[in-house]
Amino acid sequence: MKKKQSLKSGEKILFIVFGVFFLLALIAYVGLETVRLNSEEPLFAQTTHFDFSPLGSQGSKIYREARCNSCHRALRTGTSMGLSLDGIGSKRSKEWLAQFLLHPESVYEGGITLDHGLRPKEAAYASEMSAEDRHAIVVFLSELKADPGSSVAKVPPPEKSAFIDNMVEMWAPKEWGDKYTDIREKTPTEADVLLEDK
Ligand code: HEC
Repeated sequence: MKKKQSLKSGEKILFIVFGVFFLLALIAYVGLETVRLNSEEPLFAQTTHFDFSPLGSQGSKIYREARCNSCHRALRTGTSMGLSLDGIGSKRSKEWLAQFLLHPESVYEGGITLDHGLRPKEAAYASEMSAEDRHAIVVFLSELKADPGSSVAKVPPPEKSAFIDNMVEMWAPKEWGDKYTDIREKTPTEADVLLEDK
């Protein structure tokens, strides 16, 4: 009978290196999960929240039944084929949302949409829904709020941020100072009005 071949030293090194990586990954995973399951605070700060009115929850049901979440993500379900809709109520006004669902191309930046619009676009059915259903969805979407300063909110964080100051200083051309108003210098009410009509 042939003698069983022993491993070459190169092979041994390869297995040991792989084994070490595997072990480290396992330790890190168990450690992370232990911390996550035992901590009171969520691992990542929660920046989006909602508090539905009766019409808002009705809208969320219609939204689910209409399979909007086959493309969108909201409230921890759905896919990322389209945009995430969490916090959209702090970014878009009700008027914008209503207009977008009915005539997407008339309000969408650049006027070119991929899935919303007329048939054969895949989300064309959104503009063909009944006015009541669309309105309920708009109310639902407008109640998906985000904290000021989070990536989905249009309003900057309430406190002064050295990071933002540095970024503006570094990247914004000087002429922009005359051309645009810094949204942080607006009074809160002005910023709110801006949110309402954009
Ligand atoms: C086939 C995939 C798909 C489906 C289904 C779909 N959407 Fe969209 N949605 C998109 C894409 C992609 C965009 C970006 C605009 C575009 O290119 O059409 C978008 C954009 C949006 C926006 C604007 C987001 C923003 O801030 O710019 C809203 C609101 C929205 N969808 C709501 C809905 C609702 C409500 C439904 C269900 C009735 C729905 N969508 C179904 C793909 C989809």
